[in-house]
Amino acid sequence: MRRLLIVTLVVFAGPAILRGFGSADGVPTQPLGEHMEVTLRAAQTAQDKARADTVVVAARRIMAEYPTVADAERAGFKKFAPRLQLPVEHYTNGKYALEAWRGKFNAMHPTSLIFERTAGDLKLVGVMYTASNRATEEELNADVPLSIGTWHRHVNFCVPPLGTPASESFGAKARFYFGTIASAQECHAAHGFFVPRVFGWMIHVWPNESDPAKVWAVERHDSMEHAAMLGHGPPRRYDALPIPLSHLPQETVASGNAVNGRHVFDLHCAECHGAAGRNGPDAPTLAGIGIAPGQVAYMVRHPQAIDPNSPMPQLPLTDDELADVAVYVASLK
Ligand code: HEC
Repeated sequence: MRRLLIVTLVVFAGPAILRGFGSADGVPTQPLGEHMEVTLRAAQTAQDKARADTVVVAARRIMAEYPTVADAERAGFKKFAPRLQLPVEHYTNGKYALEAWRGKFNAMHPTSLIFERTAGDLKLVGVMYTASNRATEEELNADVPLSIGTWHRHVNFCVPPLGTPASESFGAKARFYFGTIASAQECHAAHGFFVPRVFGWMIHVWPNESDPAKVWAVERHDSMEHAAMLGHGPPRRYDALPIPLSHLPQETVASGNAVNGRHVFDLHCAECHGAAGRNGPDAPTLAGIGIAPGQVAYMVRHPQAIDPNSPMPQLPLTDDELADVAVYVASLK
């Protein structure tokens, strides 16, 4: 995730950093929460509806051309956050993203295809167009009329310092990225790197919505994805193991060191599963459940393999850390 963010920051925010972020870009916006701003609705002109419909028709054609992940990948779209399993996945085309960044809007060249995860399958539901942070109100309006579509961009990101536990970046306790830190002062105090505007402008189209009001909805994707990243799903109580151990396969794993494993656990797992795997606030108790090291390793490497909706994040552990944490968890009484 870190590498991904650095790459995206260089591609998208790099030019903005050089220009000092041009905060006076004059695009009228309002905040939506602490990490997003959206364009205001403009008065509709006579051509707006037809112009917006042209984009919807193009988006529908693109979706018909690349209906599956395999088709999308063949056409150069790559999964945006390869290490994370999100309920909504963006497959992004770097060439098209740069084209859009340079101000050459082409409705047949969306920056991303958006897939929704349903029962383990990824279903194509929409496309995303982008524009650079330097785009003016007129330019955004020329791409997609501001009377119909709502552009948004992500703001006030704090990129965590190296070595920060994943639980501080994702999930209910997150401070970084979409988390509780939302100002430069707080971010500097946490030794993070503050990014006032993250990727540039984005707009989603859901061409197959039967309700015309939802075709340009901001919320459909944002509420789901952000809720998932923030861990704001319905609160869960864990009275039993969500995945019965008889359903959890074993992953081959080297024999690890339980003392090191304890440190790995404290850093990456305890935030959710509780100290020593007991009474976790956001995840089931792991102590005394009779789990084998291979099963722990399997769950850590493929958290969504058994239950695609499992809220457990995919954590970037090395093979050694995996072996150590696996034997530690299996030893918990
Ligand atoms: C952000 C919270 C979070 C973090 C961090 C986390 N987990 Fe989990 N974990 C969960 C949740 C939630 C579940 C329940 C899975 C479900 O509901 O499908 C779970 C399930 C599990 C299970 C399987 C339990 C079962 O249902 O059979 C194991 C094993 C496990 N986690 C190990 C780990 C280990 C080891 C780490 C650290 C390397 C870790 N987890 C980090 C949230 C987390």
